[in-house]
Amino acid sequence: MTQPDLFQANYGPSLDAARRDALDCRRCDLWRSGTRTVFGSGSADAQLMLIGEAPAEADDRTGLPFSGPSGAVLDAWLEEIGLTRGDVWLTNVVKHRPTVVENGREKNRPPRAGEANACRVWLDIELSHVRPSLILALGGTAGKALLGKGFKITQQRGRVLPGPGAIPVIATFHPAYILRLEPPELQQAEKLVSDDLALVGRELKIGS
Ligand code: URA
Repeated sequence: MTQPDLFQANYGPSLDAARRDALDCRRCDLWRSGTRTVFGSGSADAQLMLIGEAPAEADDRTGLPFSGPSGAVLDAWLEEIGLTRGDVWLTNVVKHRPTVVENGREKNRPPRAGEANACRVWLDIELSHVRPSLILALGGTAGKALLGKGFKITQQRGRVLPGPGAIPVIATFHPAYILRLEPPELQQAEKLVSDDLALVGRELKIGS
């Protein structure tokens, strides 16, 4: 498949056709660990696209992104700026769940660069159809996929940066990272996320 031109509206198959094609995706080996493809969901007319890392265990069961504990955090973040999932397009850098077996248990793991590259075509199709005016990158994996491999979440979150197709990108921490923190680091990180969300609201001119 050729790479889509993000400036060209409605590149390639429709979003629904791409979703169907992605069900049988074998562009990398992740289909072997994931039960199903977890394509993006939400509003195809969204102004805001949220991009996470990869489907986790719950998402692999439901077929929907952010359907587990990270999703509950994300819902609260959206509520903070007066949005719901129905207002945004929510997707991931890769569309199958990456796993690793540790102590006999299958666990989530971040996608490898090669897996993210192989899956990029689906993200680009989503970007070209939704054509968001702003992207919120959730965590370092999404930041690297959108802003380059030198991206550092601790240094570059909370700023408006030029992303793919010149779409502005704001990066913030990944909800799963927040879930792992304890006080006082938890409150410090939550404050930074709130600042990042307020910036998203201002960029989208929500409430003005
Ligand atoms: N669920 C997702 O869909 N993406 C993440 O990055 C984490 C959990």
